[in-house]
Amino acid sequence: MSLLPVLLLSTLVVYPSSEVLLMPTLTVEPSGRQVYTEDTVSLACQLPGLSGLGWQFYWHKDRQDTGPVEQMWGRVGGGAVYQLWRASVTHTGQYWCRAGRGQPVFYTQYSQAVFVNVIELFTSVTLSASPSTVVKEGGAFNLTCEAQLSNCKLSQHHGNHSLHSHPDPDRNWTTVVVTFSFLRDGWPVARDSVSGMYSVARASSCHMGTYSCVARAGRARRSSQEISITLDNLSLILLTCFGTFLILSVAPLAFFVRLYVMRLWQLRARGQGELQCNECSTIQGPK
Ligand SMILES: *[C@@H]1O[C@H](CO)[C@@H](O)[C@H](O)[C@H]1NC(C)=O
Ligand SMILES: *[C@@H]1O[C@H](CO)[C@@H](O)[C@H](O)[C@H]1NC(C)=O
Ligand SMILES: *[C@@H]1O[C@H](CO)[C@@H](O)[C@H](O)[C@H]1NC(C)=O
Repeated sequence: MSLLPVLLLSTLVVYPSSEVLLMPTLTVEPSGRQVYTEDTVSLACQLPGLSGLGWQFYWHKDRQDTGPVEQMWGRVGGGAVYQLWRASVTHTGQYWCRAGRGQPVFYTQYSQAVFVNVIELFTSVTLSASPSTVVKEGGAFNLTCEAQLSNCKLSQHHGNHSLHSHPDPDRNWTTVVVTFSFLRDGWPVARDSVSGMYSVARASSCHMGTYSCVARAGRARRSSQEISITLDNLSLILLTCFGTFLILSVAPLAFFVRLYVMRLWQLRARGQGELQCNECSTIQGPK
């Protein structure tokens, strides 16, 4: 008996031919729409008709000849899921998966390739002031936050920005609702505005500062540039500053002066009291 059939037999026992041709399937979620930064993307690798138990799953990105970008043990359901919790533009690329088990490792074929394209939802967010960034005391001003989105057409319903993002022509539009927040010196002054406008009817020194806005849609967010809003009346600012200085410096001074005067009076009163007692005691002494 020659050695060849034995070898063939052992090959068959260890790696049944069905396993040699095993090829997992790789599916991406979300599948029907464009993937934006901050989205969660799932890359599910499955061995059809098999339990994933005892198998290790490997995901490769862009190249098959470099190490896997992720590996994990399979589950009873028949596969494993690699999740990009917060997708970024760097996750864009071609992915494959395969599974392996045993020692030495027997690998399945690579799955078909899937392409994941992650793009920034917001291409730009800009803040502008009207009529100007220099405003009159008591005057009105508006801050407007404008967001530009990739692959989107904007439709406005009653000052309500609903955006329809379209990944490609043969798929449906998905609606993205954008909200805006406004910050002054880093503190929020208006949250979740759908109109994208922050209005001040009567400007005063408390409205002055550095403003920025943040556009949000789902988990995607982007900040605008900063703009400084100032009062045009320099003497008014000086007056305000001087007034504040006066209040801050005179108030404690007045307080201390008052405290000092009151203490003086108290001392005088106490001195007199003691004198009276001494007089009493000297009077009482000779008794
Ligand atoms: C601010 O916006 C409102 C609403 O669009 C508009 O009526 C008003 O004239 C604007 N004011 C300024 C100062 O631009
Ligand atoms: C915003 O638009 C949606 C339709 O896209 C509508 O259902 C909703 O009532 C609108 N909201 C406001 C505040 O107008
Ligand atoms: C698009 O929307 C229509 C109706 O809402 C639906 O029947 C169809 O399956 C959708 N197509 C895709 C590709 O999601």
